[in-house]
Amino acid sequence: MKKIIAITRGDGCGPEVVNEGIKILKTISEFTDYEFEFNDAPAGGEVWKKHGVNLPEKSFDIIKKSDALLFGAIGLPDLKPGVAESAILKLRQGLDLFVNLRPVKLYNTLREICPLKDEFIGDGIDITFVRENTEGLYKNIGKLEENSAENLMLYTRKGCERIIKFGFEYAKRMGHSKVTSVDKANILKPSQLWRKIFHEIGDNYSNLETEDIYIDAFCQWLIRAPYKFQTVVTGNMFGDIISDEAAFLIGSLGMASSGNIHPGKVSMYEPIHGSAPDIAGKGIANPIGTILSVKLMMEESFNSLDIGNEIDKAVEAALHEGRTVDIKSKNLKTLSTIEMGDLIAIKLKNSLKA
Ligand code: NAD
Ligand code: IPM
Ligand code: MN
Repeated sequence: MKKIIAITRGDGCGPEVVNEGIKILKTISEFTDYEFEFNDAPAGGEVWKKHGVNLPEKSFDIIKKSDALLFGAIGLPDLKPGVAESAILKLRQGLDLFVNLRPVKLYNTLREICPLKDEFIGDGIDITFVRENTEGLYKNIGKLEENSAENLMLYTRKGCERIIKFGFEYAKRMGHSKVTSVDKANILKPSQLWRKIFHEIGDNYSNLETEDIYIDAFCQWLIRAPYKFQTVVTGNMFGDIISDEAAFLIGSLGMASSGNIHPGKVSMYEPIHGSAPDIAGKGIANPIGTILSVKLMMEESFNSLDIGNEIDKAVEAALHEGRTVDIKSKNLKTLSTIEMGDLIAIKLKNSLKA
C-alpha cells in the first residue's frame, strides 16, 4: 500500500518533532505492507522571510496531491502575530478540514506528572475534543482600524450540522455513552444555533446521553472532574483554548495530538502545540504529540486501527523507561527529542515484528 505523505516541518521546534513522526512512519513501512513517499511542502515563518509568502503555491500543490499531510508547527517571535500562522488557516479552509480531532488521554504512568490531585483524576482522563475547524471567529471576516477592530463569529447550519454529526458518529464508533457540547448560548447567538442543532442531531442517537455546558463552567469542570467527559463537541475558538488546558492535564502541551480532517479527503495531522521558541533548537521538545498525530493519521486517513493501537502501546511502553524533560521523572532517564523518538520506534518495531 503506497501512500504519499506531504511534510511541513515549519518553524522553531516543528522540524525537530516532525523528524520523529517520520521515524515512526518509516518503522511502519519497514514491518508492514505500507510504503510511504515523503514530499516536502515548506510553509511558515522561515519560508515567509525567504519568499514573502507563508504557504507557497508549490507547497499547497504538493499537499493537495498527497494522501495526508504531517505538519510540525509554525510561528516566529520576530514576525508580527499571524504572518506565519495564517498558513494554517489557509490549509484548514483551503482543504475544507472541518473536523479538528483532539484526543487527550492520560497514560497511567503519567498520573504522577498530572497537575491534579489523585481524587480529581478519578478513573482517569480520556477525552476527545471534536473542534469545529472552518467557521466561527476563524472565518477571518473582520477589520482592524486605528481605533476599533472587529471579527465576525459566523456559524452556518451546514457548518454546525457536519461537525456535530461527526462528533456523534465518533462517540458511537468509540463506544462512548455521552456527548458533551460546550458553548456560550447564554450570550452568543451562534451558540444558540449550535445548541439547537446539537439537540436536533442528538435526538437521532438514542443510545448517547447529551449534555450542554457553558464554556466558562466547562473550564472548571475540566480540572474538577475530567473523568466525566468522553466526546466533547465545541466551536472553533473554544476548542482551541480548552484543548491546550486539557493537554497540560495529560502531562504537557507536547503530548497532545490532532487531526485536521475532512473524511475521505487529504487531511492534516499535527501536534496541538506551537513552535515553542523558548525550547526550539535545544533538542528537548517532546515528540509524542507528533507521534500520536501519526497514530491519528493511520486511523483516520488510512483506516489502520491496529497500527494506531500499536503506536499507542509503543508510546506507553517507552514512557515507562524514559521521558523528555517536560514530563521528566526522578527515577527515569531524561531523554532528548531524538532519543524519545528512537525509544518509541524500538518499541513499535518489536511489536510489529512479533
Ligand atoms: P507553544 O505551544 O509554542 O508553547 C507554549 C509552551 O509549551 C512553551 O513553554 C513551550 O516550550 C511548551 N511546549 C510546546 N510544545 C512543546 C513540546 N513539544 N515539548 C515540550 N514543551 C512544549 O505556544 P506559544 O509560545 O504561545 O506560541 C509560539 C508560536 O507558535 C507562536 O507564533 C504561535 O502563534 C505559534 N503556534 C503555532 C501553532 C501551530 O503551528 N499549529 C499552534 C500554536 C501556536
Ligand atoms: C492551534 C493553533 C492555531 C489555532 C493557530 C496557530 C492559528 O493555536 O492549532 O491550536 O488557533 O487554531
Ligand atoms: Mn491552539
